[in-house]
Amino acid sequence: MHELYTVLAEYYDVIYRKRKELVKKEIDFVEDLFRREAEREVKRILDLACGTGTPTLELAKRGYEVIGLDLHEEMLQVARRKSEKEGIKVEFIQGNALEIDFEEEFDAITMFFSSITYFDDYSIQQLFNSIKQALKPGGIFVADFPCWFYSGKDYPIIWDEQNGDERLVITDWREIEPAFQKMRFKRLVQIIKPDGSVKTFMVDDELNIYTPREMRLLAEKHFRKVKIYGNLHELKPNDRRYWLVAIK
Ligand SMILES: C[S@@+](CC[C@H](N)C(=O)[O-])C[C@H]1O[C@@H](n2cnc3c(N)ncnc32)[C@H](O)[C@@H]1O
Repeated sequence: MHELYTVLAEYYDVIYRKRKELVKKEIDFVEDLFRREAEREVKRILDLACGTGTPTLELAKRGYEVIGLDLHEEMLQVARRKSEKEGIKVEFIQGNALEIDFEEEFDAITMFFSSITYFDDYSIQQLFNSIKQALKPGGIFVADFPCWFYSGKDYPIIWDEQNGDERLVITDWREIEPAFQKMRFKRLVQIIKPDGSVKTFMVDDELNIYTPREMRLLAEKHFRKVKIYGNLHELKPNDRRYWLVAIK
């Protein structure tokens, strides 16, 4: 479990190259939410499950004071290297999002790219409690999560990416388990070297599925105001991704 964030951390940005291109638009949307929904000015942000820090660094570039936190040191090493290379000041710290112990320190907390689906309907309540404690009154929590309907496929999804002189071939199988609302995720990553040799990795993961209504009902137990948006706009039919917005 979590091979993607340990042995493959150096390849994470290559595997998700297409998503990386969308981050600027996502942060435009998130800034719009800060202005529209937050009940205080956003200056200081905690980016939970920050991974290799692409959204974290984009927020910092726009002038926010940002701390990135992730469970996996291997991901944080990539994030720190990127921040040094780009000359952007961000503090990256290792930790479990369920065990954060901040007391009313942040105007906003973010959790990007489905990271919230690592938490089931019990642990998500613990997560919401920690987030609420870390937010200042009127502060905003923003997290995106996928629509289950478009996540599961009964055939493999294959794509390839170039990384210097290496070629990556990625094959995903995503299986939905409806009774327990789990998405089982298997990913074969083949790294083809210029001499034709191949290194192979298998990723095995499990994510939780939430409908927009379930997410809203769970968040409403902890936050004063909750709204679910669609993908970079108001919620509408057939959205493939949702954004949870919660105000302390
Ligand atoms: C899909 S990646 C998203 C990374 C980043 N937010 C992005 O947008 O690229 C999920 C991240 O969640 C992190 N993660 C999983 N469980 C966590 C936990 N309990 N506490 C903190 N980070 C966690 C993983 O290490 C991984 O970096």
